[in-house]
Amino acid sequence: MIKENAKISMAVIRRLPKYRRYLSELLEKGRERISSKELSELIGFTASQIRQDLNNFGGFGQQGYGYKVEELYKAIGKILGLDHSYNTIIVGAGNLGQAIANYTNFDKAGFIPIGMFDINPKLIGLKIRDIEIMDADLMGDFIKQNKVDIGIICTSKEKAQSVAEVMATNGIKGIWNFAPTDIQAPSDVVVETVHLSESLYTISFLLKHHE
Ligand code: NAI
Repeated sequence: MIKENAKISMAVIRRLPKYRRYLSELLEKGRERISSKELSELIGFTASQIRQDLNNFGGFGQQGYGYKVEELYKAIGKILGLDHSYNTIIVGAGNLGQAIANYTNFDKAGFIPIGMFDINPKLIGLKIRDIEIMDADLMGDFIKQNKVDIGIICTSKEKAQSVAEVMATNGIKGIWNFAPTDIQAPSDVVVETVHLSESLYTISFLLKHHE
């Protein structure tokens, strides 16, 4: 589906989930098709931006007809790799790790938490939903035995790098890092770091400069 030799920019990739979210809402409302103009007004990107983005993947929609909502929704899901599921583990079963484990919408999207790990003996052996918290020392073997695709790091920043190394050494290819630190990983491992605070500070800026 992606054009041969095409190098898709991160900016385009980061816009795809937004397209998919709006298309999902349109689908829920029973919309079958939408013009690029209306889609652009909804999402807030220009129609030409949308066309350019989607052209990276072979283009969708027709002049004068617009986009078929369901077809585009499914195609974007496929481009994003959401047409199959991923085994995940959560490392660090504190406040954030437990919150992520309790968030069932990730399961619905195909990201299945199959294990949690911690070093705190008070947490080891507990279950969050039906996900067992195991001793962090067992993480390497668990990853190898259970074909874990994505490791989610919810430890303190001091521990994050060593956790990432255990993940990468044992075959994890995707790391979703919540610890506020930059992780070094081999080139065949993708790391996506999330900073809620950056979004919060953006609100702070916007409030300050609102007038
Ligand atoms: P927490 O202290 O409640 O949980 C951290 C857990 O990690 C503890 O249970 C601890 O025993 C465990 N841990 C420490 N070393 C470990 C290791 N080597 N292996 C496995 N488990 C280990 O902390 P909280 O509030 O859940 O935050 C977790 C991390 O997420 C922190 O680094 C925090 O700064 C970060 N955070 C990031 C956010 C973001 O937007 N990216 C938002 C909120 C928190």
